Amino acid sequence: MSTLTWYGHATWLLTSGKTRIVIDPFFNGNTHCPVKAEDVAADYIMVTHGHFDHTGDLVALAKKTGANVVCNWEISTWLEKQGVTNLTAMNTGGSVKLPFGQVKSTIAHHSSSLPDGTYGGNPNGYVVSLENKKIYFAGDTALFMDMQLYGRGGLDYAVLPIGDLYTMGIEDSIEAIKLLQPKYALPSHFDTWPPIEQDTAAWAARVKAETKAIPVVPKVGVAVELG
Ligand code: NI
Ligand code: MN
Repeated sequence: MSTLTWYGHATWLLTSGKTRIVIDPFFNGNTHCPVKAEDVAADYIMVTHGHFDHTGDLVALAKKTGANVVCNWEISTWLEKQGVTNLTAMNTGGSVKLPFGQVKSTIAHHSSSLPDGTYGGNPNGYVVSLENKKIYFAGDTALFMDMQLYGRGGLDYAVLPIGDLYTMGIEDSIEAIKLLQPKYALPSHFDTWPPIEQDTAAWAARVKAETKAIPVVPKVGVAVELG
């Protein structure tokens, strides 16, 4: 069985059996997050890009748990300098087979400096294949036409930013869903701060009316079972 839990902003926990995969660890200082980073367990950590709202608790969580960190080359180099050694470094377009499944690094149109100003390489998203399911985490990104290619293999879930301002907003997320054609769509990167507050009920209504996907609006800290 696999589950997906939203911890507010763009922080997610994906589980497959006993394997816990944390995506973009930002717990402390994450407005609606119900848990402290100190209480989080992880076997893997996947990082989409360097910004603080995706890496805030990365170093501490990686050191505490010894989790394998999946990220781009530049972020892995930065982590190594801080004593994080269990790393899977990738770059855009590459795939890697891990014990829980397959991870593919995708394009994201955004930026990616690390909190201390270090160059963080290109931002990414990930397509994760596990237990016969394909889950696309878009990361922080604008809408782009190549999403069509990521959808071609058939996606079960697409996790897309809807906050606008720093990433695509509701309008473009609807277009993204049309290109990706996932069975289910989940919103991310919203409501954390006033400039990215969104009406998720309105988003869900538009997904239902304008796309073939089923919208899933997650409640913070509540696991969604992936069917
Ligand atoms: Ni960002
Ligand atoms: Mn962000």
